Amino acid sequence: MRLLSLIVALSILVSGCGEATQAATDRVSLDRSTRFENDAPSILVYKTPTCGCCNGWVDHLREAGFEVDARNVSDQSLYALKKEVGITVEMSSCHTALVGGYVVEGHVPADQIKRLLSEKPEIAGITVPGMPIGSPGMEGPGARPYAAYSFDHSGQLKVFAEIDPR
Ligand code: CU
Ligand code: CU
Repeated sequence: MRLLSLIVALSILVSGCGEATQAATDRVSLDRSTRFENDAPSILVYKTPTCGCCNGWVDHLREAGFEVDARNVSDQSLYALKKEVGITVEMSSCHTALVGGYVVEGHVPADQIKRLLSEKPEIAGITVPGMPIGSPGMEGPGARPYAAYSFDHSGQLKVFAEIDPR
């Protein structure tokens, strides 16, 4: 339950005063053993207040049926959070999310998150590094194929999905 205690620490770090109840709720929903009875798992998203593509990704998740708790944090807090959950510079993107005991970094398509939650592999999380054009929240001309990678607690990356948005 290393990740869980980490998340509890992070909740304390990034939640302001008076959000103790909310933080306690997150602790329960972030437990790896949480069962999703329906198609609307809740996902906690940390982003900076000025990130437009982050909002695009949050909208994409909501359209896909996720219940999203999006929280604005400072650049420094987000950086610290990424470090705490094992996101290296090479793996990193604009936002960091937590769902079902996993870390989800960057513009990962909702269907890949659903796949992660149903297959429950022994990994720490998945990432779409950088911000590929054509990924959810990064729509626009010039879409190119990109990959989502899984990573474990030692930082080992593997291709999780190859995605062609064209
Ligand atoms: Cu982005
Ligand atoms: Cu983002």
